[in-house]
Amino acid sequence: MSEQENKTTEAKDENKPNFLKKAVNSVKGKISGSKKDTSHFLTGKEARRIAKESFQQSRYYEKKKKRKNVSPDEYITEMKDDKNIVEFDNLHTYFFTDTGVVKAVNGVTFSIPQGSTVGVVGESGCGKSVTSLSLMQLVQAPQGQVIDGSSIRFKSTDYVLDEHKERIPIYEYEMNEDGSYKLDENGEKICVMEPKLDKKGRVVKDSEGNPEMQPKQLRDQNGIPQFETEEKVYDVAKMPTEHMRKIRGREITMIFQEPMTSLNPIFTIGYQLDEVVLLHVPGATKETAKNRTYEMLKLVGIIPENVYKRYPHELSGGMRQRVMIAMALACRPKLIIADEPTTALDVTIQAQILELLRDIKNKINGSIMLITHDLGVIAEMADFVVVMYAGRIIETGTVDEIFNNPMHPYTVGLQKSKPVVNRPVDRLYSIPGNVPNPINMPNYCYFKDRCNRCIEKCKGPYPDMIQVSPTHKVACHLYSDMAKEENK
Ligand SMILES: Nc1ncnc2c1ncn2[C@@H]1O[C@H](COP(=O)(O)OP(=O)(O)OP(=O)(O)O)[C@@H](O)[C@H]1O
Ligand code: SF4
Ligand SMILES: [Mg+2]
Repeated sequence: MSEQENKTTEAKDENKPNFLKKAVNSVKGKISGSKKDTSHFLTGKEARRIAKESFQQSRYYEKKKKRKNVSPDEYITEMKDDKNIVEFDNLHTYFFTDTGVVKAVNGVTFSIPQGSTVGVVGESGCGKSVTSLSLMQLVQAPQGQVIDGSSIRFKSTDYVLDEHKERIPIYEYEMNEDGSYKLDENGEKICVMEPKLDKKGRVVKDSEGNPEMQPKQLRDQNGIPQFETEEKVYDVAKMPTEHMRKIRGREITMIFQEPMTSLNPIFTIGYQLDEVVLLHVPGATKETAKNRTYEMLKLVGIIPENVYKRYPHELSGGMRQRVMIAMALACRPKLIIADEPTTALDVTIQAQILELLRDIKNKINGSIMLITHDLGVIAEMADFVVVMYAGRIIETGTVDEIFNNPMHPYTVGLQKSKPVVNRPVDRLYSIPGNVPNPINMPNYCYFKDRCNRCIEKCKGPYPDMIQVSPTHKVACHLYSDMAKEENK
């Protein structure tokens, strides 16, 4: 603006009423930057730099996941404790967004013992779902990535392959009346023989018109042929996507919060359940898959004939959630992840579904990772509890320890905010304040700005995890003296 123009504008301003002059000056101040608070804004240059860095990072991780012919040595590993089925070890899952890196899961370590239910609680946005999605390799890509240095060990079962990379069938052998195997003159077990069938199910005959015979493969009660399997431990965080597809859906399955969005509205229940079996169970045919579907529907308390040919919209919410559970069980998984499985259901149906989950877990000797906001659900279902806050674990322990002896001020706050039937209160307690901005986490305890028990030490670095009993750990400076005592 020239000097002449400036003078003209000033002259015009002189004629304005006072309130208008004030408003104009305030706007001028903001534009010239003198009073502007720039701490929450990104300059164009900065935004471009962040977007470029985020793009590079996501591309690096995407390329890594899509590599072909990766040697299994890269992702086959050992469990730290053989009793566990999953071990999350220093898991970091970040979202590389155009405005910065969201550290959704920031150094999470816990394990799920075989045959147990581990409940994960914490307020909305604390990283519960992202933790479970990292285990399934289903974090929203390309922004969401599991960062180098993280480990997710999963004890899986895999098919044994022969030198032609074919699965090895398990055969049926002839038995003696006392339950021992019949042996031939060389001391080898004798296979039961059966006629060979072609693809259309017709008996194949030799040149003399006699049926061609072959060793009979062992089948389960649904008629699905059995193959030799072995136990393998995979590090899911290092596994390329093509290998992950083999265990996802078969060895680990997920039950989502809202069954209507997870079931396909244009296919029948039967079609969708059969498809899961056909896709993941080798040797399954349309007929045997249907047998398995019927078995699973019965297991979840549904009369199969009533729903097999129905569409999802024809079922009630509770029935749909049962179907989702049947679908999750169809491949007899070792781990079921249930992400808020009962939030969309009313209280009576909720109780039935929880009962069902508990019953099924025992029947298949599986493990459950149960994600919920509802402390009541955790108390009823879980053996161990993991409390998360802002992408980190702040307390873990057995259900008894977390409910009867909560130590972290956040866990104590959570317990206080739970309604109790025999304790009349005017207003339910709510923890004041908000979770810090995930793009810009502080370098002190993330709960400090909301904590009512702060001490001088809390101004210092983020607290370490302190072991207060063999199963109980807490990340809070209030208990750091306990750790010192232990080390003495
Ligand atoms: N696609 C995404 N892009 C960027 N940030 C994301 C994305 N998905 C999740 N996040 C962030 O990751 C964090 C953890 O999200 P997550 O869904 O795990 O929370 P949660 O604990 O499951 O919450 P809720 O109880 O509401 O389901 C949140 O801060 C969320 O903003
Ligand atoms: S470390 Fe300090 S601020 Fe954080 S929860 Fe414990 S007492 Fe509160
Ligand atoms: Mg969630």
